[in-house]
Amino acid sequence: MLTDPTQIWTRPDGYVITTDKAHLEIETVYQFLHHDSYWVKGISRVLVEKSVENSSLCYGIYQGNPTEEGEYKQVGFARVVTDFVRYAWLGDVFVLPDHRGKGLSKWLMGIIVEHPYLKGVSFHLGTQDAHTLYQQFGFQPLANPENRLARPLDLSVVSKAYENKK
Ligand SMILES: CC(C)(COP(=O)(O)OP(=O)(O)OC[C@H]1O[C@@H](n2cnc3c(N)ncnc32)[C@H](O)[C@@H]1OP(=O)(O)O)[C@@H](O)C(=O)NCCC(=O)NCCS
Repeated sequence: MLTDPTQIWTRPDGYVITTDKAHLEIETVYQFLHHDSYWVKGISRVLVEKSVENSSLCYGIYQGNPTEEGEYKQVGFARVVTDFVRYAWLGDVFVLPDHRGKGLSKWLMGIIVEHPYLKGVSFHLGTQDAHTLYQQFGFQPLANPENRLARPLDLSVVSKAYENKK
C-alpha cells in the first residue's frame, strides 16, 4: 500500500487544502452530500464516514489553517479512489456556496492532477454540468462509451452490508 504523506497547501487569502483526514469535518461533508448533492442525496452519515475512511485520498478545503492555533472551518471537499498505477476515480467534489467563484475548485483540481503518483493515471469522474471545469485539467468525454459499462449505485443494498458489520 502506497502511503501518501500528509500534504498541505496554503493560499495568501487564508484558504488551505490538506490531505490529512484527521482534520475533516465529517458533519460538513455529510450535510452537503445528504442535502445538497445531486449524486448521493439522502446518503446516510455512516456511509459517508465509510467512504472517507476507505478512500485513497481525501482533500479538505479550509478557510483558516487547521494545523495551526486559531479558527478554521471546512468549506470544500473531494476524494480519490485509486491503485496509483492505472485507475483513479474522483468524486464528491464540492465547495460550499459562500466560497464559490474564488477559484477554489480549480486550485484543488490543479493539486489533484499534479499528485506525483497520479499524473499519468487514467482518471474517471461523472458530472452533470461541470464539464468545462474538469476539461481544464485534461478530462475528456469517453472516447468509446459504447465499450464502457458501469453497474449502478444502490445505496440501500450498500447500507445493508454495513448494518451486518455492526
Ligand atoms: C462545481 C464547484 C465545485 C465549483 O467550485 P468553485 O470553487 O466555485 O469553482 P472555481 O471558482 O474554481 O471555478 C470553476 C471553474 O469551472 C467552471 N465551471 C464549469 N462548470 C461549472 C459548474 N457547474 N459550477 C461552477 N463552475 C463551473 C467555471 O466557469 C470556472 O471556470 P473559469 O474560472 O475558467 O471560468 C461548486 O460550484 C460546487 O460545489 N457546486 C455544487 C456541487 C457540484 O456540482 N460539484 C461538482 C460535481 S461534478
